[in-house]
Amino acid sequence: MIFIKKIPASLTAMIFFCTLFALGTSGYADCRSVTKDKAEATARYIADVIVAGRGIVAANQGLINDPEKGDKGFTPEKVAEQIRAKFKDMTGKDISELPPEIRGTVEQVINAAKMSVQMNQARINQKGKGFKGYIPAVFGRETGQILKGKCNIFIKQTTFKYRNAYNQPDPFEKKVLEKFEQPGYPKGQGFGEFTGNDYRYLRPIYIKKACLKCHGEPKGSIDPAGRKREGYKVGDLRGAISVQFPVK
Ligand code: HEC
Repeated sequence: MIFIKKIPASLTAMIFFCTLFALGTSGYADCRSVTKDKAEATARYIADVIVAGRGIVAANQGLINDPEKGDKGFTPEKVAEQIRAKFKDMTGKDISELPPEIRGTVEQVINAAKMSVQMNQARINQKGKGFKGYIPAVFGRETGQILKGKCNIFIKQTTFKYRNAYNQPDPFEKKVLEKFEQPGYPKGQGFGEFTGNDYRYLRPIYIKKACLKCHGEPKGSIDPAGRKREGYKVGDLRGAISVQFPVK
C-alpha cells in the first residue's frame, strides 16, 4: 500500500486546472473587449480589484489560519462583498456606477476572485490546521490564472525577487519595475503603455508591516510558509500588479 504524505506540486496543479474546467464557463459569457479610450481606466480598476482582494485575504489570515475553527464563513460571496466595499473606499466609486464596458470587465475579475476563494474552501475550512497557505499572493496568482483561461485579460503579480517562477517579470515588466525603483518615482503611481495590440499596465506594491512576517528580516531565515525571507523593510518596493489585455 502506498501512502502519499505530500501531494506533489504537479498534482496540485492538475487538481487546480481540472476544477477550473469543471466550473465551466458560467458567468463568462460576456468577456468584453476593451476600447482604446477606456484602456487606462479599465487597467487601473482591474488593479484596484486585485489590490482590494489581496488586502482582504491578508486581513483575514488570522481567521483562515485558526486551527480551532472549521467553517470560517470566508465564502466567495463574502469576499466579493468586501472587495466591492474596499473598491469604493479606494476609488470613491461604486462598481455599479462605472461605465458599462468597464464594469463588465471589472465584474469578470470579481468572478475570477470568487472562483479562487471557492476552489480553496476545503483548505480554508480545514479544522486542526494552522497555516493554510491561502495568502494574498496565491489569491492574486489564481485569480489571474482563472481569468486568463476565460477572458483575454492577463493579470500577474511580478517582482525581481520572485518566489514563484510564474511571477517572473518579462522584458516589459522589468523595464517598468526599474522605473518604479528610481528614487524620484512617485510612490504608488501606476504606469501604462500601448504595446502592439495590447495595453499594459503595472501598479507598484510595497512592503507593509503585515508582510514582514514572511518577506522581512532576517534575510534568508525561514518564514511560516517554509520559504526564505527576502529581508525587506516597510516601504520597500515589493513588486507590481501587472495587467495586460488586447484593445480594439
Ligand atoms: C504567510 C507568509 C506571507 C505573507 C504574510 C506575505 N507573503 Fe507574499 N508571498 C508568500 C509566498 C509563499 C509567496 C509565493 C506564492 C506563490 O507560490 O505564488 C509570496 C509571493 C508574493 C508575491 C509574488 C511574487 C513572488 O515572490 O513570486 C508578491 C508580490 C508578494 N508576495 C507580496 C506580498 C505583500 C505585499 C505582502 C504583505 C501585504 C505579503 N506578500 C505577505 C508569503 C507571504
